[in-house]
Amino acid sequence: MPKTEELVVADLGAGTGDLLFFLSMQFKRVYAIDFSEKMLNIAKEKFIGKKNITFKQGDIRDLSKLGLKLDIAIAINSILCPSINDVNKILKEVYDSLKSEGLFIAIFPAMEAVLYHSLLLYENELSKGGDEDLIIKNINRRVGKEYCFIPGIFRDKDEKQKFFYKFELERRLKNAGFKHIKFKKVYYPWGQHGDFESFPNETMMWDWFVFAKKI
Ligand SMILES: C[S@@+](CC[C@H](N)C(=O)[O-])C[C@H]1O[C@@H](n2cnc3c(N)ncnc32)[C@H](O)[C@@H]1O
Repeated sequence: MPKTEELVVADLGAGTGDLLFFLSMQFKRVYAIDFSEKMLNIAKEKFIGKKNITFKQGDIRDLSKLGLKLDIAIAINSILCPSINDVNKILKEVYDSLKSEGLFIAIFPAMEAVLYHSLLLYENELSKGGDEDLIIKNINRRVGKEYCFIPGIFRDKDEKQKFFYKFELERRLKNAGFKHIKFKKVYYPWGQHGDFESFPNETMMWDWFVFAKKI
């Protein structure tokens, strides 16, 4: 791959632009893409005068419409739509928007971390004594109210958000055409991962950090 200062990168679902300063220092051109005008306006305010950042309001489900040819596409917790068809479409659009040898770097909410947290809840209740069947029934009801485990969907009132299993991500990325798919965990200190009850003496919860290549 050429030197980083020659590369074109896009921050997909850039939000308020937390990553943009770093990206603009490292890369030749940075596209900050988000469908929220409000988010983009906040980000733009922060980077007035930064000539190598281009802001584009657009939906990453239709990324190829923007006609970008990217060396690197980054999506940090922004592929969250609850529709599996939409997720698959985004991954394909990202693939199509990359140059050959291009890299996709992303963070996805981990469904396994939710299962892990449920196990901690279960064991915590068990340690206090009580009926095992009743404890598991209560935890199933409590967690099951918020999560649908087969498609990996979190629900809160009208809001829905996709979480991902590692095997699922691997399969979806492969189906989109990606190769050399690698995973790491991004750990979150207890208290920083949404509304999850903390277990400070236990290993932290995580999201999936993914690297995938277009060959
Ligand atoms: C949780 S925020 C993450 C923002 C940023 N990547 C970060 O790490 O701080 C998700 C962002 O993705 C954007 N987003 C979600 N779905 C999108 C889509 N289909 N097209 C464009 N932007 C999208 C949202 O508007 C929001 O700004």
